[in-house]
Amino acid sequence: MQGLKGKTVVITGASTGIGRGIAVRFWQEGANVVINYHRHPQEAEETQRQCLAAKCLVHGCEGKTLLVQGDVSKEDDVKALFEKSIDAFGTVDVLVNNAGILKEFTDEMMSPVEDYDRIMAVNLRGFYLCSDAAVRHFTGQAKPGVILNISSVHETMPYPNCIPYALSKAAMGNLTKTLALKYASKGIRVNGIGPGAIDTPINEGWMAIPEERQKVESYIPLGRIGKPEEIASLAAFLASDEASYITGQTYYADGGMSVYPEMLKM
Ligand code: NAI
Ligand code: BGC
Repeated sequence: MQGLKGKTVVITGASTGIGRGIAVRFWQEGANVVINYHRHPQEAEETQRQCLAAKCLVHGCEGKTLLVQGDVSKEDDVKALFEKSIDAFGTVDVLVNNAGILKEFTDEMMSPVEDYDRIMAVNLRGFYLCSDAAVRHFTGQAKPGVILNISSVHETMPYPNCIPYALSKAAMGNLTKTLALKYASKGIRVNGIGPGAIDTPINEGWMAIPEERQKVESYIPLGRIGKPEEIASLAAFLASDEASYITGQTYYADGGMSVYPEMLKM
C-alpha cells in the first residue's frame, strides 16, 4: 500500500486477535507500530515477535515496534499512550481504535448496569478518549492524520443478547461520520471497519463447540469465519494514500453476514 512506510500507527488492544493482525500488517508495510495492551505483556511481546518475523511487503521494513500498557477507558493512560508514542517516533500518523470487550446476556433482561458501564467504558469512552487525543495531536501539528474504528456488523445489525455491545458499536458508527465531517477540512480522514465473525479470542467460547460454530457459519454466505488478516488488509488500505478520497464510511468485512442471508431461503 502506498504511503504507510515510515508512518507511526497506534493500535489499541493490539496484543491479541484483530489488533495483532493489524499490527503485523502495518509493520509489513514499513510502519512504526505502537502495540497498546491492557493486561498481559507476554501477549504484546508475541505480537511484537510476529511483526518482526513477518515478510516485508515494501522494500525493506525499517519500522520499529513499541509496547505501551494502558487501559483505554482511563484518560491518563490514553494521554501516556500518545506521549510515549510521540517520544519514541516524533509523531503519530494513524490511530486504530481496536480495543473492545463483549459480554453476552442470555436471560430475559437487557444487562446488569455494571456490565453496561464497563462495556461502554472500554468500547465507547476508550474510543472517544483515543480519538480526541489523536485529533488534538493532528490539529496541534497541523498535519493530516487517519483514524480507523474497528466497529462490527452490529453497528447496524441488532444483537439481542449483547445490547450494550451493539449500542457501543452503533455509537461508534455515528462518531465515524461526525468526526469525518468535523475534521475533513484539517486533512483528517476517519473510517470504520465492521467485521463479521472473526477467529479471535473474543469468539473462543462458541468457536470451540462444533454445533455452535456450524450455526454461525450457516448465516455467513461465504460459509466460513474470517481471519484477522482479512480485517488487517482493509485497515492497511483505508489508512494508506490509496484511500485518500475516502472518509466517513464504515466498510463491512463479514463474508456477507450483513446482506440478509436468510433471503436465500425465500
Ligand atoms: P480480542 O478479545 O482478541 O481483542 C480485544 C482486545 O482489546 C484485547 O487485546 C484486549 O486486551 C483489549 N482490551 C480490552 N479492554 C481493554 C482496555 N480497557 N484497554 C486496552 N485494551 C483493552 O478480540 P478481537 O476480536 O480481536 O476484538 C478486537 C475488536 O474487534 C473489538 O473492538 C471487537 O469488538 C471487534 N470485533 C470483533 C469481531 C470478531 O468476530 N472477532 C467482529 C466484529 C468486531
Ligand atoms: C462480535 C463477535 C461476533 C460477530 C458477529 C462481533 O461484533 O465481536 O463476537 O461473532 O460480531 O456476530
